[in-house]
Amino acid sequence: MTGHTVDYLRLSVTDRCNFRCSYCMPPEGVEFKSHEEILTYEDMIFFVRVAVQVGISKIRLTGGEPLVRKDLSDLVKQLSAIEGVNDISLTTNGVLLPRFAGALRDAGLRRVNISIDSLDPVRFRTLTRGGSLADALAGVDAAFEHGLLPVKVNAVMLPELLQEVSAFAEFTRVRPVHVRFIEWMPVGSCGPSDAESVLSKDRLMKEFAAIGPLEQVGSPGGWGPARYFRLPGHAGTVGFISSMSDHFCGDCNRLRLTADGRLKSCLFSGDEVEVLRLLRQRDEAGTLEAVRRSLEGKTFDKNRVREMNSRGMSQIGG
Ligand code: 5AD
Ligand code: SF4
Repeated sequence: MTGHTVDYLRLSVTDRCNFRCSYCMPPEGVEFKSHEEILTYEDMIFFVRVAVQVGISKIRLTGGEPLVRKDLSDLVKQLSAIEGVNDISLTTNGVLLPRFAGALRDAGLRRVNISIDSLDPVRFRTLTRGGSLADALAGVDAAFEHGLLPVKVNAVMLPELLQEVSAFAEFTRVRPVHVRFIEWMPVGSCGPSDAESVLSKDRLMKEFAAIGPLEQVGSPGGWGPARYFRLPGHAGTVGFISSMSDHFCGDCNRLRLTADGRLKSCLFSGDEVEVLRLLRQRDEAGTLEAVRRSLEGKTFDKNRVREMNSRGMSQIGG
């Protein structure tokens, strides 16, 4: 279905995570892959060298939690040395950023998205099953301190978010952060069971509009599926990603590689193209062919999301 360029790769570097978010993982966690089943950095570099040949130029590192993978800045450094790669970003829960932000920035990382689903410490702890809001916010501070800009915060639209609208508004008033609210997607087996009862973008936007007039602004950083708004006098913005209520497949510019070496052209598709073996064999023609096959297979049917996806978000990388 792609008449346009696919230039963006989401590269999942691990299926492991130091959180257990209730909508993402069961309390006992998911069974992690063994090291042999997971791509090495060399495998990833080989893949990216091939992917730039079909037009990939932007790379986002995802997980699980990418910062739990050892020496991530080495990977960033090698990725930034590849001709054709001109933008490297990271999606993280933020808690390890104070430790790694400087090295990542030096290695060539440009910017980060930090997932913070609640600004209430108690709710945050419950939601992440033990995570500390203060640690995640320290990650936001580290991102600013090391110039990983623009700093974006991702918050999944769970129904309880309605009680936190003023807290998030205040957060964007005082800091130049871009908070993106993402409609919850029924991927994997966790989270709300009834997709119809979850919070919608329209409902949430109405709550923000009650605080003050929302002025639509351009996307910080230039592209992506969110629409952004600024409240009067606020340093930052709020953005809304309506993955479920509208779909934006027509603009979809992304390819996904899972940590265990499978290509997924669409988050909502169960179709995966295995490339682990091709990468291990350093089979350039075979890998290129697999990328093309994956891109041709882009499909979307939001009513079949749950049925088609047995693997949860931590195993796909969002
Ligand atoms: N629906 C929407 N977003 C999700 N994320 C994880 N699971 C879901 C889901 N089911 C988010 C994380 C993170 C990003 C990678 O995806 O909170 O911000
Ligand atoms: Fe980890 Fe992100 Fe899943 Fe939370 S949503 S458990 S931080 S991978």
